[in-house]
Amino acid sequence: MGKIIVVAGVPGTGKTSVSRELASLTGFQLIELGRYALERGLVTGFDDERGSYVIDEDALSREVSMLAGNSEGYIIVSTHYPEILDPSVVEKVFVLRTHPLVLEKRLESRGWDRRKINENVMAEILGVVSYNALTVFGEEKIYEIDTSNTTPGEVAGLVADILSNKAVIPPGIRIDWLSVLSAEELSRFESYE
Ligand SMILES: Nc1ncnc2c1ncn2[C@@H]1O[C@H](COP(=O)(O)OP(=O)(O)O)[C@@H](O)[C@H]1O
Ligand SMILES: [Mg+2]
Repeated sequence: MGKIIVVAGVPGTGKTSVSRELASLTGFQLIELGRYALERGLVTGFDDERGSYVIDEDALSREVSMLAGNSEGYIIVSTHYPEILDPSVVEKVFVLRTHPLVLEKRLESRGWDRRKINENVMAEILGVVSYNALTVFGEEKIYEIDTSNTTPGEVAGLVADILSNKAVIPPGIRIDWLSVLSAEELSRFESYE
């Protein structure tokens, strides 16, 4: 049985807020994967175009597996690229999903430029994080949770309840924003200029 509980999702879906609430609710250790990689110097270089470090994914994955092996209890890992983790140490992957128009507002409030907003909202529309997780972990480990109309505390509570079997929701991918957006709404996010 895996020791890692993953909180995943596109930027703005609520990983940081939910995983911190979940950690304080459960007492489990929390690793924020991107920040952890930088703190440990697990990078291979700097991407000038993106203005961010390139993470050494293999080294990072190995470190997380080692931590899981040495840990008595669960470890929460928050990340937008769960697929780098070794499936044998991963128990469940909670993919936070957010309605594209709500996500757009959250990313706008970060002051992000249009290109970066559209890139990330489109990733959410297409369900990229869930899909990538699916290919590595299989449907039975993936739980999608809609954070559009709830609070981080409510989402963390639901995750904790699923972990302790107090709440039963079936695993799998079922949120499809393409089917709820009009063509006009969709077109807002198609430009990458
Ligand atoms: N139900 C919810 N769950 C998580 N975050 C939410 C929720 N509702 C609103 N938010 C807000 O969404 C914003 C983005 O959350 P954050 O945790 O920074 O996301 P991420 O770490 O995935 O980029 C925060 O301002 C957070 O308070
Ligand atoms: Mg975050």
